[in-house]
Amino acid sequence: MRKPLLAANWKMNGSLTENEKRLTLFKEKLSNLEHQDIVIFPPAIYIPQTANLLYNSDISWGFQNIFHESMGAYTGEHSPGMAKDYGVSYALVGHSERRLLFGETDHQILKKIAILLEFGMTPIVCIGETLSQYKNHETLDVLKRQLKAFLDPISCEQQDLVIAYEPVWAIGTGKAATESEVQVVHENIRLIVSEYDQWDADLIRIIYGGSVTAQNSNHFLAQPDIDGLLVGGASLKSDEFISICTQ
Ligand code: PGA
Repeated sequence: MRKPLLAANWKMNGSLTENEKRLTLFKEKLSNLEHQDIVIFPPAIYIPQTANLLYNSDISWGFQNIFHESMGAYTGEHSPGMAKDYGVSYALVGHSERRLLFGETDHQILKKIAILLEFGMTPIVCIGETLSQYKNHETLDVLKRQLKAFLDPISCEQQDLVIAYEPVWAIGTGKAATESEVQVVHENIRLIVSEYDQWDADLIRIIYGGSVTAQNSNHFLAQPDIDGLLVGGASLKSDEFISICTQ
């Protein structure tokens, strides 16, 4: 049984005042939702505020990015141990903005996944093709390569790792993929995962991200292989994210 996961990726948005309003409302409206997991990804500097405001609720919080070493001379980075100090249980890994804007490689992504699992945190590993790859029908080849980079070497309890399929062309563009298109891709991702002996493809959660709104969210969630959503822009609008989580 795969429990749906609804994640809010705030990216580099928010302020103490805005966050307080949003998180207080989320705690009021989204606690006690037994049938799904909800996780908020604020900018790292607001993790202490988020931990404080969501303390004693069923909502989790996570880092948008984490470094693959546990301590040392890595100016500007945050370690998994530091995240754990603030009750962090999830981290995004390999978001396309990290891959494209900050040059994050499959190898670094693998190292991040490994250290997160070692520290008992759940990595949400983002994969997805660019617009030109999509147009050239290269989606599955790209996904296979991105998956192979960590499915090969990593072995863990499947519940402890989430895959987020986020076509790059659908992120922040208002042009979401269709639910049937995503369903087919997720089926294929599950098939690829099943080729690795140490993984049980039926258990792994595969979520979709890219221009998710309150209008299209339930179409995605109705598909058998879409186990949740990673929501960017719409998660900054409190009412919209609450409606995505509760409909
Ligand atoms: P979006 O972002 O919902 O604004 O398209 C999704 C994401 O980047 O995770």
